[in-house]
Amino acid sequence: MINVLMDFPLKILSIFTKSSGNLFREILRKLNSYFGGDVKPVKATEVKTLSCQTSSHIHKLHISLPIATMGDNNGFLPFPKGFSTAAIHSGQDPEQWDSLSVVPPIVLSTTFKQHSPANPKKYEYGRSGNPSRNVLEECLAALEGARYGLCFSSGLGAITALLGLFKSGDHIICGDDVYGGTNRLFSKVATPLGITTSFIDVTDLSNIEKCINSNTKIIWIETPTNPLLKVLDIKAVSEIAKKHNILLAVDNTFLTPYLQRPLELGADLSVHSLTKYMNGHSDIIMGAILLNNSEVHEKLRFLQNAMGIVPSPFDCSQVNRSLKTLALRMKQHSQSSLLVAKFLESHPKIEKVIHPGLPSHPQHELCKKQTSGHSGMVTFYIKGGLEDSKRFLSALKLYSLAESLGGYESLVELPSVMTHASVSEDQRRVLKITDNLIRLSVGLEDVDDLIDDLKQALSVI
Ligand SMILES: Cc1ncc(COP(=O)(O)O)c(C=O)c1O
Repeated sequence: MINVLMDFPLKILSIFTKSSGNLFREILRKLNSYFGGDVKPVKATEVKTLSCQTSSHIHKLHISLPIATMGDNNGFLPFPKGFSTAAIHSGQDPEQWDSLSVVPPIVLSTTFKQHSPANPKKYEYGRSGNPSRNVLEECLAALEGARYGLCFSSGLGAITALLGLFKSGDHIICGDDVYGGTNRLFSKVATPLGITTSFIDVTDLSNIEKCINSNTKIIWIETPTNPLLKVLDIKAVSEIAKKHNILLAVDNTFLTPYLQRPLELGADLSVHSLTKYMNGHSDIIMGAILLNNSEVHEKLRFLQNAMGIVPSPFDCSQVNRSLKTLALRMKQHSQSSLLVAKFLESHPKIEKVIHPGLPSHPQHELCKKQTSGHSGMVTFYIKGGLEDSKRFLSALKLYSLAESLGGYESLVELPSVMTHASVSEDQRRVLKITDNLIRLSVGLEDVDDLIDDLKQALSVI
């Protein structure tokens, strides 16, 4: 019988076993196959002397784990101070309600009584403002360290409102590896309205300057990108944007403000699909924009109402509730996804694994410099083609084959024919979004079960 205590985020794994001798070597061998070949005893001598305490046949073995764990944040930025306190209290003061309700009520009313004509107390009509939405907007702004927060009926709704800031003849610079729906909105909806977009590889900063024209109004980036998880240097891009008096918007959906705060790095707008990690329960579609600039805020507030892209009070209440556990969920997503990535990296049927927490990731150092960690997203290429991908995907039992990400449940998808089918074939080829590229959203199930499921599904190809 072996008991393993893995108290993440510790770097030391303690193993208690009732057997003796060579079993230790066997355990190491097993752990090495599990963690990708770099599990080592703390020191060979320590294992014999310090760490192997024999008492009535019980051996305690200390082993250093190869994992970049998140506890001391291992070179990543520290977690934001007071984050969970803000998530639980900002905008939530019970004194704002006559009932002193501790949990903010869901106010369904579409209209609000006025004491005299055109003299509302605070709210007048549900599209222009609603107490349940207001609570959430305040809370979201606090989490991003922003002065203003606006919620929309979807992430794409938030980006649509942003498009409303521009007019025919304006130009957008957009990262080439963004959510397929964002690509579609810019290329298929904005272009016919006379707003043009250049899609460029922002990992090479010189591409941005080359693309800026006198009519360029905004740089739009996603980092990490989707689905290739390239990490872009927000501070460096913001310096270029400021030099040319252009807005910088960062889609922060993949990391949430717990792990990345674009406004602190110089971005003007942090944009979210709240549908993903922020709500985290795969039961709400919503979006948000967080910002400090009062002039842009006024315009967006106008557009939120004028374009009518507003969420329901019920949805706002659900997201507001979900934020209370955001920090806890993100920590677990981070830890589990890194273990999954390590496992995949060691597997002979995997060609390449992309995860910003792996030292093999090309922007691993940048990731540590600008974020407090990584999310539950893992992208990898299996050895093989479309048929192998299909066999692997249908063999999985715990990962549901579905679009989306960031929920408590693990999901898997094939970007080339699912989330990124709307990206042109040529662009997919350039980006290497091929039929053997698979994207995982690692959920909150027990990570051993998630790894076992991948192991058995890989055995069928
Ligand atoms: C990074 C990113 N941004 C924006 C969106 C759009 O959000 P929504 O589906 O809430 O409209 C998505 C959707 O998958 C996304 O992954």
